[in-house]
Amino acid sequence: MKILVTGGAGYIASHTNALLLEKGYEVVAIDNLSNSSPESIRRVEEITGKKIIFYKGDTRDKNLLEKIFSENDIYAVIHFAGLKAVGESCAKPLMYYENNLMANLALADVMSKHNVKRLVFSSSATVYGVPKKLPLTEQSPLSATNPYGATKLMGERIFSDLYNADKQWHIILLRYFNPVGAHPSGKIGEDPKGIPNNLMPFIAQVAVGRLPVLKVFGNDYNTHDGTGVRDYIHVMDLAEAHIKALEKIDNYGVEAINVGTGEGYSVLDMVKAFEKVSGKTIKYEFAPRRSGDVDACYANCDKAEKELGFKAKYNLYDMCRDLWRWQTLNPNGYED
Ligand code: NAD
Ligand code: UD1
Repeated sequence: MKILVTGGAGYIASHTNALLLEKGYEVVAIDNLSNSSPESIRRVEEITGKKIIFYKGDTRDKNLLEKIFSENDIYAVIHFAGLKAVGESCAKPLMYYENNLMANLALADVMSKHNVKRLVFSSSATVYGVPKKLPLTEQSPLSATNPYGATKLMGERIFSDLYNADKQWHIILLRYFNPVGAHPSGKIGEDPKGIPNNLMPFIAQVAVGRLPVLKVFGNDYNTHDGTGVRDYIHVMDLAEAHIKALEKIDNYGVEAINVGTGEGYSVLDMVKAFEKVSGKTIKYEFAPRRSGDVDACYANCDKAEKELGFKAKYNLYDMCRDLWRWQTLNPNGYED
């Protein structure tokens, strides 16, 4: 069974590809490599001993999509391709709308033409905006606080409208919370370009001596230690959620499902866990709040368990241990 994976060289996709191949699926990947390296594709092939059919190109390019769907009998699509940096999306909103939304439209159009109507879409907890009540359920109010979040919200809307117009579609909108960690082999992981925006890659780069000090954004939040609380989920658990979504997709029209652990950990909890696992001291200092950040954000995961039979298996220490292994084996990411 061939699965088309858009953004197939990226962080979450590479881990999902590894699991797809292990489970016996064939992977066809497309990526324009705007935020990734073809080395991740090669390493997944190394881990699994299986080949990925890789097309270097843009998901907005309908001619290329036509070619891919003509050359391959695609069973379903997992649509990861997109730009994802919140700060950059505020500085370059048009780039985000153009990239993320046009990719959705081109993909949906070519899928329709080829009668491939199974889709798993990478959505995000960002669609909940500023949470009013925790934990967040799929019924919690939706809003966007930045252009990146708006592209995810609009993506969900586009795919929901598509299903409403044509009930042959099966679409699962997976709302990821905070994916972290790496493949247990240490061969693939998150490889952010430049200085990381997100907490865990930043901590790992401080531990390995690539960055001098972690700035903890705010210590006056309404949380147990004053620092921001999030729902971190191991990327291998997240990969597993995609497999479960594919297995169950024909049961659904269009369905949004949270993918988290349901546990909230603070910035300082994460620092301490990482120190314990790595044996390194993470130098940190408190800094002002980062604009747009919320006190706490974590998921109610009942729906994923009930509908998909998915429950996260890995704990905080597993996430830190696997991230640390990836970071120590590849201190400069895929450049090594
Ligand atoms: P990533 O940047 O590692 O992967 C995205 C991939 O898409 C990259 O390889 C990039 O080169 C590619 N890409 C971007 N635009 C493209 C286009 N127009 N055509 C072809 N390829 C394109 O990011 P990730 O963390 O793996 O995220 C994957 C998806 O999950 C994204 O849609 C992201 O918004 C979503 N998501 C991520 C997180 C997170 O914290 N990592 C959380 C929630 C949702
Ligand atoms: C970020 C995105 C969000 C996206 C999510 C998953 C922002 C504002 N939000 O969420 O839209 O869905 O990633 O990809 O970028 N922190 C520090 N120091 C740092 C980095 C982070 O203290 O150098 C803190 C933050 O203030 C936050 C926590 O660590 O409390 C987690 O931050 P981060 O990893 O960036 O994820 P989110 O902000 O939750």
